[in-house]
Amino acid sequence: MDYTTLGRSGIRVSVMGLGCGGHSRLGQSYGNTEEQSVEVVRRAVDLGANFFDTAEAYGTEEILGRGLRGEPRGDVVISTKRSMWGDDGLRAEGVAPALEASLRRLGTDYVDVYHLHGLSAQHYDRAVEELVPELMRLRDEGKIRSIGVTEVFSSDPGHEMLSRAVRDDCWEVIMVGHNILNQSARERVLAATQEKSIGVLIMFAVRRALSDGTALAEVLADLRDRGRVDPKLVGDETALDFLIREGGATSVQDAAYRFCRYEPGVHVVLSGTGKVEHLKANAESLRRPPLPEADVERLRRMFAGVDDVSGN
Ligand SMILES: NC(=O)c1ccc[n+]([C@@H]2O[C@H](COP(=O)([O-])OP(=O)(O)OC[C@H]3O[C@@H](n4cnc5c(N)ncnc54)[C@H](OP(=O)(O)O)[C@@H]3O)[C@@H](O)[C@H]2O)c1
Repeated sequence: MDYTTLGRSGIRVSVMGLGCGGHSRLGQSYGNTEEQSVEVVRRAVDLGANFFDTAEAYGTEEILGRGLRGEPRGDVVISTKRSMWGDDGLRAEGVAPALEASLRRLGTDYVDVYHLHGLSAQHYDRAVEELVPELMRLRDEGKIRSIGVTEVFSSDPGHEMLSRAVRDDCWEVIMVGHNILNQSARERVLAATQEKSIGVLIMFAVRRALSDGTALAEVLADLRDRGRVDPKLVGDETALDFLIREGGATSVQDAAYRFCRYEPGVHVVLSGTGKVEHLKANAESLRRPPLPEADVERLRRMFAGVDDVSGN
């Protein structure tokens, strides 16, 4: 496993992070027992991952806490989130109790990254004005090491909220959606995070479209129908097959994680899974070198005009 520093947060992190949300929620979404999900966390530790992302909304904080029990606290990096939806999300007085509840479920007394979860552009100014001072107070108290914000990639695939957030100085870490199909974060978000040394976590590297051939075929057909891609560059559902060959990627998922891992400005690529065999394959992918330069160039050309799909 490779390690890096998460921007100006200064936190040392593994380049692979275990995502405890997404469609899998450590397999809780499709029937994993709690023991099986705990085992995924334990195996991630064995594979050298030290970064773990969860949220009050995922229902996996307790499982993550169980999986990490026994690990020296300083050896693991825990990221969790305060939901930004519902009546309560934007009330400053709700933040400290929500954090306390997360700490209890996780079985710890601080989190390394605490995010505002799924902040929309519409609520951005209010969040900065009312919630950020409260997050700073909790950071001064030692309950949070760094302050983060995550977008809702499926409804904000053009990064409207984060393009504003990266102009402000309050965010030490951001979580952004980025993948082969929508690379718009490169110009709109990652150019600025590199300038300002903001820590970057990638979500949606694979998601549904890059883990399921039928979903991929649907997204590609939709992009062609709407004129978002050139049919000469993006033909039918076999459009990504060129990536899989000797000296190239071993699978679409392998290509997808490696594509994100070597994107300039990226620190951690989250892998969300409830299956140990997927976890092992993804850790292996994130250890491999970059995709051949010509393949990366071709992917950039193929999807250059796309900023309105997430792969969800
Ligand atoms: N707004 C937000 O803050 C926000 C939103 C979404 C996600 N997140 C965070 O980002 C994390 C990563 O996003 P994500 O969960 O969508 O992760 P992802 O890694 O992009 O995609 C995971 C999906 O792909 C499947 N998968 C994983 N590895 C595979 C493999 N090798 N082969 C085939 N299928 C594979 C998983 O199913 P299996 O379980 O079958 O492996 C799961 O359905 C989440 O877990 C969460 O922590 C945050």
